[in-house]
Amino acid sequence: MTDDVLIVHGGTPLQGQIRVRGAKNLVSKAMVAALLGESPSRLFDVPRIRDVEVVSGLLELHGVKVTAGIEEGELVMDPTNVESASTDEINVHAGSSRIPILLCGPLLHRLGHAFIPDLGGCHIGPRPIDFHIKALREFGAVVDKTPEGMHLSAPNGLHGAKLELPYPSVGATEQVLLTAVRAEGVTELRNAAIEPEIMDLICILQKMGAIITVHTDRVIEIQGVPRLYGYEHKPIPDRIEAASWAAAALATRGEIEVVGARQADMMTFLNVFRSIGGELKITDDRVAREGVSGAEGGIKFWHPGGELKAVALETDVHPGFMTDWQQPLVVALTQARGISIMHETVYEQRLGYTEALNQMGATIQVYRDCLGGTPCRFGRRNFMHSAVIAGPSKLHAADLRIPDLRAGFAHLIAALAAEGTSRVYGVDLIKRGYEDFEAKLSALGAHVERP
Ligand code: EPU
Repeated sequence: MTDDVLIVHGGTPLQGQIRVRGAKNLVSKAMVAALLGESPSRLFDVPRIRDVEVVSGLLELHGVKVTAGIEEGELVMDPTNVESASTDEINVHAGSSRIPILLCGPLLHRLGHAFIPDLGGCHIGPRPIDFHIKALREFGAVVDKTPEGMHLSAPNGLHGAKLELPYPSVGATEQVLLTAVRAEGVTELRNAAIEPEIMDLICILQKMGAIITVHTDRVIEIQGVPRLYGYEHKPIPDRIEAASWAAAALATRGEIEVVGARQADMMTFLNVFRSIGGELKITDDRVAREGVSGAEGGIKFWHPGGELKAVALETDVHPGFMTDWQQPLVVALTQARGISIMHETVYEQRLGYTEALNQMGATIQVYRDCLGGTPCRFGRRNFMHSAVIAGPSKLHAADLRIPDLRAGFAHLIAALAAEGTSRVYGVDLIKRGYEDFEAKLSALGAHVERP
């Protein structure tokens, strides 16, 4: 498909300012939460990305009225008339996103039954849903897996439960929150994920009337309430997109100010960025400096010249280094002097994209062993989950096919950093999570065009 190709004339440092909006991985969950309310919810600063379209479609199928609000980026969701949808209608969304699994609890509360299509999302490993299903069953749901999807019912209602996750999964924690808030009684979740997006979802649920306590040591307690109401919320900014642009600044020896990025959500990334030799400045004093009312702060990232330094890193759950920061940063690490190590401990198959980087001149070797940190769940199993990156390498242009969202953006950065003209195929996948990325690239001075 020719319209799914981007021609990238690389070698120009990216320079300028772009803005990030609400985090993809919060906005989609906030939209699901709206289903639980008895009155309309308003979500602000919603990015125009494919995942938002998919969740809007799913909500609309279930009778939620989704409309644009008065403000640019405002979404109004009215769940007053929630109704069942046919499996055929729902199946149109099969394979398009991981979010449908989170509709289980809210639909069981609202309708007493739910149908969840086959899931989609990025192909970065097997991505099982066993934690979700086990938790739902402990709440009292009856889960029936069929070849067309998953049918759920709750003949005796949903009741609070004592749960412990085998691993602090983001999605399973969200599943428990979205189900427990209206289940009868108290739920205690141990080994919960505590990512900033989860804390923001808890804020939304509290606005709706939920009672949720976050204890120390990954324990979350939820006291079920009989009804919830609509919310008004401005989501946390997208810290994955912000880090992606930061890595692009480093890899292309440029300077990018990411307006809207928030230091508190990115501290681990900022430490790593600085250790490699990148410079950054938190610009949230801009309102005072420029005296511009409404001016918004952010973070400016730049390459100070000279050589970058190698680093040994591993991805982890929050507050560790995010798995979604890994791929764009590895492109920047191909430009650092020495041997860098990236040990991926969240997903077992998230290093496949390095093959294309090697074709462009990088020197990256992947290993089954746990390198550069604590042994993880994938050690001594057949997963290539550690990468050793030797640099600096001169990258040259290539024809690339985008494998998944974050790796896709990493490929794009590599093409922008490389000398010559690359063709990046499957580039529309990037629209799943990066709003207006082509317009942003142009604003930063990148030479990109559609054929
Ligand atoms: N896991 C299981 N069983 C389960 C659920 C998860 O074994 O039932 C495993 C996964 O296979 C994985 C680990 O637990 O090895 C962590 O998965 P998690 O459930 O935390 O991931 P997720 O909720 O499916 C979200 C984001 C991902 C992000 C991860 C980790 C959304 C829509 N997706 O996925 O984002 O990488 O958390 O932070 O929020 C992306 O934005 O490109 C993306 C992939």
